[in-house]
Amino acid sequence: MEERDSHQGWPRGTAVIGAGTMGLGVAECFAAAGIRVLLTDATPELTREAKGRLVRRTKGHADAGLVAEGAVGRAEAVETADDVAGAVGDVDFVFEAVPEDIGLKEEILDSCSAAAPQDAVIVSNTSSLPINNLSEFVGRPGRFCGMHWFNPPEWTPGVEVIPAAATEPEVVERLVEFLRSIGKRPTVVGDGPGFVANRIQNALFLEALRCVEEGLASPQEVDEVVRSCFGFRLPFFGPFQISDMAGLDVYENVLDVLKEGLGDRFTAPQSLRRLVEEGRTGTKSGAGFLQYTNEERERLLLERDRRYAALGALLEDLPPVDVGKDTP
Ligand SMILES: NC(=O)c1ccc[n+]([C@@H]2O[C@H](COP(=O)([O-])OP(=O)(O)OC[C@H]3O[C@@H](n4cnc5c(N)ncnc54)[C@H](O)[C@@H]3O)[C@@H](O)[C@H]2O)c1
Repeated sequence: MEERDSHQGWPRGTAVIGAGTMGLGVAECFAAAGIRVLLTDATPELTREAKGRLVRRTKGHADAGLVAEGAVGRAEAVETADDVAGAVGDVDFVFEAVPEDIGLKEEILDSCSAAAPQDAVIVSNTSSLPINNLSEFVGRPGRFCGMHWFNPPEWTPGVEVIPAAATEPEVVERLVEFLRSIGKRPTVVGDGPGFVANRIQNALFLEALRCVEEGLASPQEVDEVVRSCFGFRLPFFGPFQISDMAGLDVYENVLDVLKEGLGDRFTAPQSLRRLVEEGRTGTKSGAGFLQYTNEERERLLLERDRRYAALGALLEDLPPVDVGKDTP
């Protein structure tokens, strides 16, 4: 595993506020990229313990061959601060990852904003709190933005970047460029409840739970269906390209049956009906949610098959994660 070159350019120093599940993983990422990191948690003792955990988990990752050996030294070099003011005073990027409690976020963002340099960019890792509301807690809202990472942050590439109405476009560009430079895949999305990922993820979770409650399958069986059926495609394609490849007319018909049996939450939206009416039924007609030339369509289907075969082979090679069973 090759060590990343030391990060060049912005940010020169980061403060991670809240060293729990997310903050610690993000701190590991920043440190592994060769960025100076200052860490702080609720008390000096919790901060010291968190630093110990950070070094141990990085060692574990290095022992498993998942990160370069040098990452351990970089984790050891992470600095700790006794409080927010001590962490943010000399950095140009502040990453807030304290628990999802609006009162606590207000207190922490207010302290960050008061103690950080004027030009520091402050981001919140909130999963669901409106970014516009949080931006009211910082003195310079133009330099504040949502930055939603996913667990485990060391490995999950996607990050939602959620500007508030006041966020300066230059700040958004800078955050996107920075995330790309450390190997992440940022997408700028709007400030709605749960943004994009959690809204979709929770819709999936609720239907999964309903299937269990209605006795269709156990939790383990639902997980198997999700992973091995439609979930198998998700590393490569999202819902729009998947539905384009299946046929939007098929989706419309299926949704009509689901609505009949399960109610209005499955009503086919007008935007879908319109596409079908216009004959834009997906790859088979050359256009659906996306447009495809004949050559692109052929390439898409071939690359799809190549990727599915490669994923199938990878899953065969990996030992199954045979952990946990349905609770009686
Ligand atoms: N866990 C996830 O899967 C996940 C994913 C994406 C986003 N998030 C979001 O990230 C944020 C953090 O979540 P988490 O799962 O890491 O929570 P967590 O409870 O694991 O960690 C939060 C940390 O903040 C510390 N903390 C509490 N009060 C503090 C204070 N006053 N000053 C400094 N530190 C303080 C806690 O001691 C703890 O170590 C939340 O907004 C959450 O919604 C979580």
